[in-house]
Amino acid sequence: MSSATAGAAGTSSPAVELRDIRFAYKGGRDVIDLPALTIGQGERCFLHGPSGSGKTTLLGLLAGVLVPRTGTVRVLGTTLSGLTSGARDRFRAEHLGYVFQMFNLIPYLSVRENITLPCRLSPARRARLKGADVGAEAAHLAERLEIAELLDKPVTALSVGQQQRVGVARALIGAPGLVVCDEPTSALDSDRRDRFLELLFARCEEAGSALVFVSHDLSLAARFQRTVELPELNKAAVREMVG
Ligand SMILES: Nc1ncnc2c1ncn2[C@@H]1O[C@H](COP(=O)(O)OP(=O)(O)O)[C@@H](O)[C@H]1O
Ligand SMILES: [Mg+2]
Repeated sequence: MSSATAGAAGTSSPAVELRDIRFAYKGGRDVIDLPALTIGQGERCFLHGPSGSGKTTLLGLLAGVLVPRTGTVRVLGTTLSGLTSGARDRFRAEHLGYVFQMFNLIPYLSVRENITLPCRLSPARRARLKGADVGAEAAHLAERLEIAELLDKPVTALSVGQQQRVGVARALIGAPGLVVCDEPTSALDSDRRDRFLELLFARCEEAGSALVFVSHDLSLAARFQRTVELPELNKAAVREMVG
């Protein structure tokens, strides 16, 4: 068993454990300085902060796309900084659902092909379907997200709200232990936004996925079990610049 699957298979590990995290982009000053953050399995966490406070960067650390300068990132019991970049890629494909701000759907694939992609990239994730067919699971998720009639359409033919829901189905297929969302509601009006959140929460609950949801809109915080506020480390520098 690889170290990635050994840790992730542990039933009692929190979804996320961060300790003493400092991160800077190459040549720059720290944009993240976070002493500790623990998110339980299945927990819904709202990550709030002004533009530039490091929300997207923090999701990159949780996804193992970025590696901190100091500190440890543990996801579902696996210490990501202890893995090679190839092993982090495999861990991400197996255990993480990512809903991007700009959807990042593959434009030349259909809705169904976009949704099933993570299971085609990760045999371990496909194995979690417990015998269910990948196509049937995509259809099930599409049904629950109210996009079933769109499965054979090219994603480029969809509205913004429909594309968001394809992004959610793709993140949730194969029940990842952690789902992260980067401002997925910023392009939706408030009615659609509320409906979208309801669908997202219900599907995460069904899959047992912990959720880290990023937004600059603090009015959404009440819908989550907890809120984490990111301070803007660059503020002092900006003040210096404007005098
Ligand atoms: N690829 C990058 N290279 C260098 N600096 C970056 C990069 N991405 C983001 N930053 C900087 O890091 C800080 C945090 O950015 P980001 O995580 O995108 O914030 P948020 O998502 O909260 O708006 C900002 O100052 C931003 O300019
Ligand atoms: Mg961002």
